[in-house]
Order: sequence, then C-alpha cells, then structure tokens
Amino acid sequence: MLQPLQIAVIGDMHMLFDDADIEYFNTSEYDALLFVGDLASKNPDSLFRLLPTMNRLTKPAWLIPGNHDTTGVRQIIGEITHNEFLMRFGASSQPRRMARLTRELTGATLCCYSEHTLPGGLKLVAGRPFSMGSTVGTVNFRTYLQSEYAIGTLAESAQLMKSLIDGVNPPYILMAHHGPRGLGAKATDIFGADFLPQETDFGDADLEEVIEYARSIGKAPLAVVAGHMHYPTKHGRKPKQWYLERNGIFYVNAARWPRIFKHEGQTWRHHVRLTIQDGKVDVAARYVSGDVVREVRDDYAFLP
Ligand SMILES: [Fe+2]
Repeated sequence: MLQPLQIAVIGDMHMLFDDADIEYFNTSEYDALLFVGDLASKNPDSLFRLLPTMNRLTKPAWLIPGNHDTTGVRQIIGEITHNEFLMRFGASSQPRRMARLTRELTGATLCCYSEHTLPGGLKLVAGRPFSMGSTVGTVNFRTYLQSEYAIGTLAESAQLMKSLIDGVNPPYILMAHHGPRGLGAKATDIFGADFLPQETDFGDADLEEVIEYARSIGKAPLAVVAGHMHYPTKHGRKPKQWYLERNGIFYVNAARWPRIFKHEGQTWRHHVRLTIQDGKVDVAARYVSGDVVREVRDDYAFLP
C-alpha cells in the first residue's frame, strides 16, 4: 500500500515566490511540490531571475511550463489574435530559453508530456506544456511543440498523452498548466473564461479527451491539477470554483492570483494542499502568513 502523501500544488506565481516561500516549503511536511507553471511575468527573461530562488528548494519538486514560461510576448499576442506571423516570428527564441531553463533549473524537475515517480511511488503524468487555451481548437506555441514533440494539433497532443496513460502504472496524478474542457462554462466555473464576449468553457479539449480515455480503460487519475485560469475572476472579482470532484476524480485549479497578497493588514501566500491516503484524495486551499496557516475547503472561497 502506498504511504500517505502530502503534496503542495503551487499555482501561477508570475514572479510571486520568494525567500519566505522557500523557508515555508523547505520546513513543511510536504513530500512533493507540484508547480503548475507560469513562473514568469510578461517579460520572458524574468523567469531566469526566479531560478536562483527556485533552486533553493530542498523538497522534491516538479514543474510544467506555462504559457508565460520561455515564450515571448509576440508569441502570446499571436496566440491570442490567431496571428500566424506573430506566432512564428516570436517563436525563434523559445528553444534557446527552453535550453537555458533545462540547464539552470535544478530545484525542480521539468515536465512536458512525461511520466515521473513521486516519493512513495505515486506516479505523475504531465500533459501539454505552455497551454493557454484556444477558442479555435489549436495547440498553443505550435512551432515549438512541432519541432520538439512532433505535435501540431490537439488530436496529436491527445494521442501522445493517451500513450503516456497506456504506459503509466496507477495510481497517478495528471498535471497540466491549463485544465480540461467539460467542467463548466460560467466565469466562476473552474476553467470557465470571463474574458471573452460571453462566458465560455475555456478548458483544453485534448486533456478532456485523455481523461475520458483514461476512465474508459479503467485508469482514471486520482487528481488532475492545473492552474492558468486566475481567480478571483478578472471582471467582477468573483470567487471561482477552485476544486471539484467529478466521477471520482479531483480537479484542482491552483491559480489564485495574486498568490501573495495583503488581507486585513497581513501578507498571505497561497497554495493548495493535496493529501493522498489509501487512494483517497483530500484537498484544501492553504493561506500562509508567517507561522499562521489557514485552510479553506469551501470550493468557491479565495480568502483566508
Ligand atoms: Fe497561464
């Protein structure tokens, strides 16, 4: 039987991760840290300023790159506007930045379409890196995915992830930067968009297909952890559903933004605790302020 496992899921930090976080996590009870991506701010090279801090982590850690990690501003604008020229024009520097990230990141294992083993034996399957969702059914940052993984479409991405599911020995956790489609279209739903003319299910179709496939062959993940869709919501600053259980799978969106914030005069730092014991999952949002740790289980609450 697998030992109980305490996992911290750290959402989009966009540079908000510092010495206090290092001290907390290094002295915490966590067995593993999962970073769901978007370390960088809008400046793609900001990522490298964060690495000396990340590299001081002493807990085993894994990171899937988000759409801001190693990608350029022109590429992101190209993805948003579906401008092929900008997508390709800006893509030329991504391999260099990925090579540098691979070389300089020592505090966490980089995950892209890959399988890993967490302490105690639980498996981790990482999905498509750099995902930022799409309203036109494309994979984001196709130039890089094509050259590195021969992935040019959502169908090809789903196929590659299905082969990872075929190979994994359950139980396992599925990690992505952006969550799957099919979990609701409201702005306050876990991966629903509030930045389009109408509320839209913005989740990834390839990840949804892979989870369905995993269920169909009796290999459903224990949990699917992701981020990207920030909360509180952009418009109206409403709390967003940050976890839900469906068909026995726990879905987590750890992208509370900003993850470090002031509330009633105190500075709080956010992450999600995921405890796995005897095949059962327990989740809570954790807000840390100095020695004070508050846990929130309300699926829409976002303040301590
Ligand atoms: Fe993101």
